[in-house]
Amino acid sequence: MSDKTVKILAIESSCDETAAAVVADGREVMSNIISSQIDIHTLYGGVVPEIASRKHMENINPVVEQALKEANVRLDDIDAIGVTYGPGLVGALLVGVSCAKGISLATGKPLIGVHHIKGHISAVYIENKQLKPPFVCLVASGGHTHLVIVHDYGKYEVIGRTRDDAAGEAFDKVARAIGLGYPGGPKIDKAAKTGNPHAIEFPRASIEGSPYDFSFSGLKSAVLNYINTCKMKGEEVVTEDVAASFQQSVVDVLVSRAVKAAKETGYLKLALAGGVASNSALREAMKEECEKNGIEIYYPSPIYCTDNAAMIGVAAYYDYVSGVRSGMDLNAVPGLKLT
Ligand code: KG4
Ligand code: ZN
Repeated sequence: MSDKTVKILAIESSCDETAAAVVADGREVMSNIISSQIDIHTLYGGVVPEIASRKHMENINPVVEQALKEANVRLDDIDAIGVTYGPGLVGALLVGVSCAKGISLATGKPLIGVHHIKGHISAVYIENKQLKPPFVCLVASGGHTHLVIVHDYGKYEVIGRTRDDAAGEAFDKVARAIGLGYPGGPKIDKAAKTGNPHAIEFPRASIEGSPYDFSFSGLKSAVLNYINTCKMKGEEVVTEDVAASFQQSVVDVLVSRAVKAAKETGYLKLALAGGVASNSALREAMKEECEKNGIEIYYPSPIYCTDNAAMIGVAAYYDYVSGVRSGMDLNAVPGLKLT
């Protein structure tokens, strides 16, 4: 076996972050540059796809250059280019995919298309050097809520998914309804710290016959109904209590399903990934429940939970060493499935 370090240049542009990173041997982050568009999308209360694509076009080259510079490497030192090709916003994904293809073509270095959710799962490896599959992973982001068995590097089995809204989407919609604005997750997280999580009894939906599936749209409607009823009765809506009670409902559902999956598969190793995994109440509750049940818990630092390119570099590394390569026909696939 060669002792040479494998360096991946990774690019991520599936939503509202333009990101590039250099990752060595799948676990060491040499640079991780993220140019966030949050400020501009905040003006519109959410991500505007057209604006996202345009901003990615402006930012992509400087972000890639900065990632190489901070890692102190040249394109020549890179072994392969990893890029998110789905799921996500088609115009946003296309910017990263085109950039990666251009670099691959110009340098002759292999191209590896990465599934965004596999990237989120791979983020867990960065700070947990000893973690190896198999384990169970709860991936909760703005667009996805999945319970996944990671059988091996690159080998995933989805055992549960949301039937409607993603957990992050519910955070974003509820935040807007209670006047906290965009991005909802971090704002609800903060407001909930001074609220009473048991002030309002919101529903915890379960789906008959599908113990690992999720549904959050009923919860979102229950919050909206609660607010409307208060307004009609002229009663005060205590934002912090609504935030804390809504968050508690999401946390209870996520924790119970994930812990059940870890226990029933017998893997007893549980990882959290995706933007919602940075939620402080979720991390605390999951830690507590895992301790009670003898399950080891792993989660990335918040910077590796939300969208970043380092996680794409990690996933691309494991594909690279197992011989996966993409061709110049790699295209953005907005609805790419996790198989
Ligand atoms: O993984 P991510 O950055 O992008 C997607 O792939 O969707 O996740 C973004 C989502 C948003 O819905 C955001 O509100 C949520 O993650 N989020 C949080 C927190 N930080 C981000 N949700 C709850 N608590 C947080 N602290
Ligand atoms: Zn994401």
